[in-house]
Amino acid sequence: VTVTQEELKRVAAHRAVEMVESGMTLGLGTGSTAAHALDRLGDLLRREALRGVAGVPTSLKTEAHAARAGIPMLQLREATGIHLSIDGADEVDPELNLVKGRGGSLLREKMIEGAGERFVVIVDESKLVPRLGCTGAIPVEVVPFGCFHTLGLIRKVFDGLPGFSARLRTVAPKDSADGKEVPFVTDNGNYIVEMFFDDGIRGDLREISVRLLQITGVIEHGMFLGMATEVVVAKKDGTVVVLD
Ligand code: A5P
Repeated sequence: VTVTQEELKRVAAHRAVEMVESGMTLGLGTGSTAAHALDRLGDLLRREALRGVAGVPTSLKTEAHAARAGIPMLQLREATGIHLSIDGADEVDPELNLVKGRGGSLLREKMIEGAGERFVVIVDESKLVPRLGCTGAIPVEVVPFGCFHTLGLIRKVFDGLPGFSARLRTVAPKDSADGKEVPFVTDNGNYIVEMFFDDGIRGDLREISVRLLQITGVIEHGMFLGMATEVVVAKKDGTVVVLD
Protein backbone atom coordinates (compact mmCIF):
# COMPACT_ATOMS: atom_id res chain seq x y z
CA VAL A 1 0.00 0.00 0.00
CA THR A 2 1.36 3.41 -0.85
CA VAL A 3 0.40 5.99 1.71
CA THR A 4 -0.04 9.43 0.23
CA GLN A 5 1.54 12.49 1.79
CA GLU A 6 -1.97 13.80 2.44
CA GLU A 7 -2.75 10.65 4.42
CA LEU A 8 0.42 11.11 6.50
CA LYS A 9 -0.56 14.71 7.25
CA ARG A 10 -3.95 13.47 8.43
CA VAL A 11 -2.40 10.78 10.63
CA ALA A 12 -0.07 13.31 12.31
CA ALA A 13 -2.94 15.76 12.81
CA HIS A 14 -5.22 13.16 14.38
CA ARG A 15 -2.47 12.05 16.73
CA ALA A 16 -1.99 15.63 17.95
CA VAL A 17 -5.73 16.11 18.44
CA GLU A 18 -5.64 13.12 20.84
CA MET A 19 -3.69 15.46 23.17
CA VAL A 20 -6.64 17.87 23.36
CA GLU A 21 -8.80 17.73 26.47
CA SER A 22 -12.21 19.25 27.15
CA GLY A 23 -12.04 22.82 28.37
CA MET A 24 -8.76 23.63 26.65
CA THR A 25 -8.02 26.81 24.73
CA LEU A 26 -6.11 25.93 21.58
CA GLY A 27 -3.91 27.75 19.11
CA LEU A 28 -5.28 26.74 15.70
CA GLY A 29 -2.58 26.44 13.04
CA THR A 30 -2.59 27.24 9.34
CA GLY A 31 -1.83 25.09 6.30
CA SER A 32 -2.80 21.79 4.72
CA THR A 33 -1.71 19.66 7.71
CA ALA A 34 -3.33 21.89 10.33
CA ALA A 35 -6.53 21.77 8.25
CA HIS A 36 -6.86 18.06 9.12
CA ALA A 37 -6.64 18.94 12.82
CA LEU A 38 -9.45 21.50 12.41
CA ASP A 39 -11.69 18.93 10.73
CA ARG A 40 -10.95 16.37 13.44
CA LEU A 41 -11.63 18.85 16.25
CA GLY A 42 -14.89 19.80 14.57
CA ASP A 43 -15.91 16.11 14.43
CA LEU A 44 -15.08 15.47 18.08
CA LEU A 45 -16.95 18.60 19.20
CA ARG A 46 -20.00 17.64 17.12
CA ARG A 47 -20.00 14.15 18.67
CA GLU A 48 -19.45 15.73 22.09
CA ALA A 49 -16.35 13.61 22.61
CA LEU A 50 -14.79 17.01 23.43
CA ARG A 51 -16.59 19.89 25.14
CA GLY A 52 -15.82 23.46 26.04
CA VAL A 53 -12.88 23.79 23.66
CA ALA A 54 -12.12 27.18 22.12
CA GLY A 55 -9.56 28.01 19.44
CA VAL A 56 -7.46 31.07 18.67
CA PRO A 57 -6.98 31.13 14.86
CA THR A 58 -3.52 31.89 13.44
CA SER A 59 -4.81 33.23 10.09
CA LEU A 60 -7.93 34.49 8.37
CA LYS A 61 -8.06 31.26 6.38
CA THR A 62 -8.00 29.18 9.56
CA GLU A 63 -10.63 31.42 11.12
CA ALA A 64 -12.95 30.71 8.19
CA HIS A 65 -12.18 26.97 8.24
CA ALA A 66 -12.70 26.69 12.01
CA ALA A 67 -16.02 28.52 11.69
CA ARG A 68 -17.15 26.00 9.06
CA ALA A 69 -15.97 23.14 11.29
CA GLY A 70 -18.02 24.54 14.19
CA ILE A 71 -15.07 25.27 16.50
CA PRO A 72 -15.84 28.12 18.96
CA MET A 73 -13.22 30.85 18.67
CA LEU A 74 -11.53 33.51 20.77
CA GLN A 75 -9.28 36.35 19.72
CA LEU A 76 -5.78 36.40 21.21
CA ARG A 77 -6.60 39.23 23.64
CA GLU A 78 -9.62 37.32 24.98
CA ALA A 79 -7.77 34.07 25.65
CA THR A 80 -6.72 33.94 29.28
CA GLY A 81 -4.20 31.22 28.51
CA ILE A 82 -3.50 28.97 25.54
CA HIS A 83 -2.99 25.40 26.71
CA LEU A 84 -1.94 23.84 23.43
CA SER A 85 -1.27 24.95 19.87
CA ILE A 86 -1.28 22.55 16.91
CA ASP A 87 0.29 23.56 13.61
CA GLY A 88 2.24 22.23 10.65
CA ALA A 89 5.71 23.33 9.58
CA ASP A 90 7.65 23.53 6.34
CA GLU A 91 10.84 22.16 7.90
CA VAL A 92 11.94 20.71 11.25
CA ASP A 93 15.65 20.47 12.15
CA PRO A 94 17.23 18.01 14.65
CA GLU A 95 16.86 20.60 17.48
CA LEU A 96 13.14 20.95 16.62
CA ASN A 97 13.67 24.44 15.22
CA LEU A 98 11.19 25.13 12.43
CA VAL A 99 10.72 26.98 9.20
CA LYS A 100 7.15 28.18 8.90
CA GLY A 101 5.28 30.58 6.70
CA ARG A 102 5.75 29.22 3.20
CA GLY A 103 1.95 29.19 3.06
CA GLY A 104 2.04 32.92 3.80
CA SER A 105 1.22 33.03 7.52
CA LEU A 106 3.88 33.37 10.17
CA LEU A 107 3.37 36.46 12.34
CA ARG A 108 0.07 35.46 13.94
CA GLU A 109 1.35 31.89 14.24
CA LYS A 110 4.44 33.04 16.12
CA MET A 111 2.43 35.31 18.42
CA ILE A 112 -0.13 32.67 19.32
CA GLU A 113 2.13 29.61 19.42
CA GLY A 114 4.69 31.52 21.46
CA ALA A 115 2.03 32.52 23.98
CA GLY A 116 0.88 28.98 24.76
CA GLU A 117 2.07 26.33 27.19
CA ARG A 118 2.60 23.59 24.59
CA PHE A 119 3.22 23.84 20.87
CA VAL A 120 2.71 20.56 19.04
CA VAL A 121 3.97 20.47 15.46
CA ILE A 122 2.45 18.01 13.00
CA VAL A 123 4.42 16.85 9.95
CA ASP A 124 4.98 14.00 7.57
CA GLU A 125 8.56 12.78 7.54
CA SER A 126 9.45 14.72 4.37
CA LYS A 127 9.60 17.86 6.55
CA LEU A 128 12.57 16.59 8.62
CA VAL A 129 15.78 18.30 7.46
CA PRO A 130 19.40 18.45 8.67
CA ARG A 131 19.40 22.29 8.46
CA LEU A 132 16.71 24.96 8.11
CA GLY A 133 16.35 26.38 4.61
CA CYS A 134 17.41 23.10 2.91
CA THR A 135 14.23 22.56 0.93
CA GLY A 136 13.04 26.07 0.14
CA ALA A 137 12.65 29.65 1.26
CA ILE A 138 12.84 31.11 4.75
CA PRO A 139 10.19 33.84 4.70
CA VAL A 140 10.53 37.25 6.37
CA GLU A 141 7.48 39.51 6.85
CA VAL A 142 8.31 43.15 6.05
CA VAL A 143 6.45 46.45 6.03
CA PRO A 144 5.40 47.39 2.46
CA PHE A 145 6.85 50.90 2.82
CA GLY A 146 10.45 50.83 1.61
CA CYS A 147 10.34 47.07 1.06
CA PHE A 148 13.19 47.09 -1.48
CA HIS A 149 15.33 49.11 0.93
CA THR A 150 14.54 46.51 3.61
CA LEU A 151 15.34 43.71 1.13
CA GLY A 152 18.77 45.32 0.67
CA LEU A 153 19.34 45.37 4.44
CA ILE A 154 18.36 41.69 4.70
CA ARG A 155 20.84 40.84 1.93
CA LYS A 156 23.55 42.67 3.91
CA VAL A 157 23.11 40.27 6.85
CA PHE A 158 24.32 37.48 4.55
CA ASP A 159 26.75 39.61 2.54
CA GLY A 160 28.98 37.51 0.31
CA LEU A 161 27.56 34.20 1.50
CA PRO A 162 27.80 31.80 -1.46
CA GLY A 163 24.47 30.37 -2.51
CA PHE A 164 22.41 33.04 -0.73
CA SER A 165 19.69 35.01 -2.49
CA ALA A 166 16.60 36.96 -1.47
CA ARG A 167 13.61 38.34 -3.32
CA LEU A 168 10.18 39.78 -2.72
CA ARG A 169 7.46 37.12 -2.85
CA THR A 170 5.05 37.85 -5.72
CA VAL A 171 1.87 36.30 -7.05
CA ALA A 172 -0.05 36.51 -10.31
CA PRO A 173 -3.16 38.58 -9.63
CA LYS A 174 -6.40 36.66 -10.24
CA ASP A 175 -7.64 38.64 -13.23
CA SER A 176 -4.41 39.98 -14.64
CA ALA A 177 -4.52 40.61 -18.38
CA ASP A 178 -0.75 41.14 -18.77
CA GLY A 179 0.34 38.37 -16.38
CA LYS A 180 2.36 40.88 -14.33
CA GLU A 181 3.01 39.67 -10.80
CA VAL A 182 2.19 41.75 -7.72
CA PRO A 183 3.59 41.49 -4.17
CA PHE A 184 2.01 38.78 -2.02
CA VAL A 185 0.13 40.47 0.84
CA THR A 186 -0.13 38.83 4.28
CA ASP A 187 -3.18 38.80 6.59
CA ASN A 188 -1.55 41.76 8.31
CA GLY A 189 -1.24 43.81 5.12
CA ASN A 190 2.52 43.23 4.86
CA TYR A 191 4.87 41.80 2.23
CA ILE A 192 7.15 38.74 2.36
CA VAL A 193 10.85 38.56 1.52
CA GLU A 194 12.00 35.02 0.69
CA MET A 195 15.56 34.07 1.64
CA PHE A 196 17.21 31.12 -0.11
CA PHE A 197 20.28 29.19 1.05
CA ASP A 198 21.84 26.61 -1.26
CA ASP A 199 22.42 24.01 1.38
CA GLY A 200 20.46 25.44 4.31
CA ILE A 201 21.30 28.21 6.76
CA ARG A 202 24.49 27.72 8.77
CA GLY A 203 25.73 29.50 11.87
CA ASP A 204 24.17 30.65 15.12
CA LEU A 205 20.47 30.83 14.29
CA ARG A 206 19.60 32.92 17.34
CA GLU A 207 22.21 35.48 16.42
CA ILE A 208 20.97 35.57 12.82
CA SER A 209 17.42 35.95 14.14
CA VAL A 210 18.41 38.94 16.28
CA ARG A 211 20.18 40.58 13.34
CA LEU A 212 17.13 40.18 11.11
CA LEU A 213 14.73 41.46 13.77
CA GLN A 214 16.96 44.49 14.39
CA ILE A 215 16.28 45.75 10.86
CA THR A 216 13.65 48.48 10.98
CA GLY A 217 11.07 47.38 8.44
CA VAL A 218 11.35 43.69 9.31
CA ILE A 219 8.36 42.54 11.34
CA GLU A 220 9.09 38.85 11.91
CA HIS A 221 10.75 35.87 10.22
CA GLY A 222 9.71 32.27 9.71
CA MET A 223 12.41 30.60 11.84
CA PHE A 224 10.64 29.32 14.97
CA LEU A 225 13.59 28.66 17.28
CA GLY A 226 13.10 26.63 20.45
CA MET A 227 9.33 27.02 20.29
CA ALA A 228 8.07 23.52 19.48
CA THR A 229 7.56 21.38 22.58
CA GLU A 230 6.66 18.23 20.62
CA VAL A 231 6.82 17.24 16.96
CA VAL A 232 4.48 14.49 15.75
CA VAL A 233 6.02 12.82 12.70
CA ALA A 234 3.97 10.48 10.49
CA LYS A 235 6.28 8.13 8.60
CA LYS A 236 5.82 6.34 5.31
CA ASP A 237 6.17 2.95 7.05
CA GLY A 238 2.94 3.70 8.92
CA THR A 239 4.48 4.53 12.30
CA VAL A 240 4.11 7.80 14.18
CA VAL A 241 6.87 9.16 16.39
CA VAL A 242 6.68 12.06 18.82
CA LEU A 243 9.94 14.01 19.13
CA ASP A 244 10.44 16.23 22.18
C1 A5P B 1 1.54 28.64 7.06
O1 A5P B 1 2.06 29.68 6.34
C2 A5P B 1 2.65 27.80 7.50
O2 A5P B 1 3.42 28.26 8.53
C3 A5P B 1 2.29 26.37 7.60
O3 A5P B 1 2.03 25.99 8.88
C4 A5P B 1 3.38 25.58 7.07
O4 A5P B 1 3.70 26.21 5.86
C5 A5P B 1 3.04 24.13 6.83
O5 A5P B 1 2.03 24.00 5.87
P1 A5P B 1 1.61 22.61 5.27
O6 A5P B 1 1.02 21.82 6.37
O7 A5P B 1 0.56 22.98 4.23
O8 A5P B 1 2.80 22.00 4.66
